[in-house]
Amino acid sequence: MQVAGEGISDEKILVLDFGSQYAQLIARRVREQNVYCEIVRHDLPADVIRKKKPCGIILSGGPSSVYEAGAPKCDPDLFRLGIPVLGICYGMQLACESLGGQVEHCESREYGRAALRISEPAGLMAGLPHEMDVWMSHGDQVSSVSEDFQPLAATASCPYAAVRHLRLPVFGLQFHPEVTHTPLGGTILHNFLYAVCGCEGRWHLTDFAEQTILRLREQVGDQRVVCGLSGGVDSAVTAALLYKAIGPQLSCILVDNGLLRKDEQAAVLAEFTNHFKADLHVVRAEDRFLQQLAGITEPQEKRRRIGYLFIECFKEEAAKIEDARYLAQGTLYPDVIESGAAVDGPAATIKLHHNVGGLPEQLGFDLVEPLRDLFKDEVRKLGEELGLPEQLVWRHPFPGPGLAVRCLGEVTKDKLDVLREADHIVVSEIKAAGLYRQTSQVFAVLLPVQSVGVMGDARTYENAVAIRSVNTDDFMTADWSHLPYELLARISNRIINEVRGVNRVCYDISSKPPATIEWE
Ligand code: XMP
Repeated sequence: MQVAGEGISDEKILVLDFGSQYAQLIARRVREQNVYCEIVRHDLPADVIRKKKPCGIILSGGPSSVYEAGAPKCDPDLFRLGIPVLGICYGMQLACESLGGQVEHCESREYGRAALRISEPAGLMAGLPHEMDVWMSHGDQVSSVSEDFQPLAATASCPYAAVRHLRLPVFGLQFHPEVTHTPLGGTILHNFLYAVCGCEGRWHLTDFAEQTILRLREQVGDQRVVCGLSGGVDSAVTAALLYKAIGPQLSCILVDNGLLRKDEQAAVLAEFTNHFKADLHVVRAEDRFLQQLAGITEPQEKRRRIGYLFIECFKEEAAKIEDARYLAQGTLYPDVIESGAAVDGPAATIKLHHNVGGLPEQLGFDLVEPLRDLFKDEVRKLGEELGLPEQLVWRHPFPGPGLAVRCLGEVTKDKLDVLREADHIVVSEIKAAGLYRQTSQVFAVLLPVQSVGVMGDARTYENAVAIRSVNTDDFMTADWSHLPYELLARISNRIINEVRGVNRVCYDISSKPPATIEWE
């Protein structure tokens, strides 16, 4: 699968995907170091790999065991192409096993932080301290290597945490250099790209924009593309790319489902009309959505109904657009991986949700997803490159099902209005405190709970609101934000005083995993 424009750079890295949740993260870490990167199937024949002329190959991790029947394997000839290979976790086990080593099941799975002691601080491990934190996540490990291998680093329970082959340009890491929990992992990848593979770092995100625009033009030809606009950065960047690529052949549809945040629809329209001149259709469908949601409390059923009705509304509007052939979606990589719809590889499903699937088949459209390989922060950088306004590029993400997944239990207009007011206070106070850019996603949740309070001399029995604020790089893992107490106090006071029907405010201090960012 292609990560960015094919042929854009003469130096490229191939990531062979063995079903790791982290394959795209590896690709993104390579892109961050200005080297073009493609993710390909794990079983690509060595001669096909050679023809692609990569300057390096990375073998990803994966959930299998190398000795398992049907475990994904690579073509063993690739180790003899003379192209540098870096195996990570499962990829390392595969490389070592192919070149005469042995892999064994560990007594206890090693998962989490480990202290790495480096014995050879040169080459791949150059510039690193003698001891550093690394992130482990494995059930098997290399137990012996052939005499051609040299250990470079070890942990207390893993004697071959980093190795290199003495005659072939083959390296292995048992830990994950691509995750943020390996703080110096970037140095190791940098060493691999620049010192081992000899890259010069000529690839930039602007290349991605230009190449994507060319590719979109090629894919779409003179056909018309319909793009759903939500007000979020993903759909705006998708629309901006398409607008640059095909201008008047683009039609945008905004479905107002009544589940948007306070004043959001007006803001989207203002931003949209100021920055694009594309054909825009607004579908006002609040009543239809509320009707569909009446009496429904089960979260998946709420999502299903919203998704279904969204498709109906979209379909009806799209039918009015003559010659529409393609549908553009702002799907990002975390949406793809969490839906288990990832690449051609065997990545395991985590959770079925988000915007992937359903819509295009129902509409009979072909799909255009120019951001499918990117992470949120890359999309933001791309938005800036494309000249989108700051308040749009940096807007916190908002889920497709909108406030419905933050209004727990049954969704009604009254409850949504309460939630909208509380949410508006949370976001405005975060902005006023100068913390909007430092937090990743901040919002209010209306809980299906009433509790007793006292206002003046009277007993109250009213709603509780939770505040959710998280910090994350990629939305796949997240920590709760350690907001100042005074700010929390101000938010709480304002909500209780200004929002009728709320007498209690709580702060959500759960990280993801095991919690998710949204409550439903
Ligand atoms: P969770 O709750 O799974 O959310 O930790 C991760 C990120 O995805 C957003 N999200 C969605 N976005 N459609 C979307 O477009 C959805 O159905 C959906 N569900 C969650 C969520 O807001 C967070 O940014």
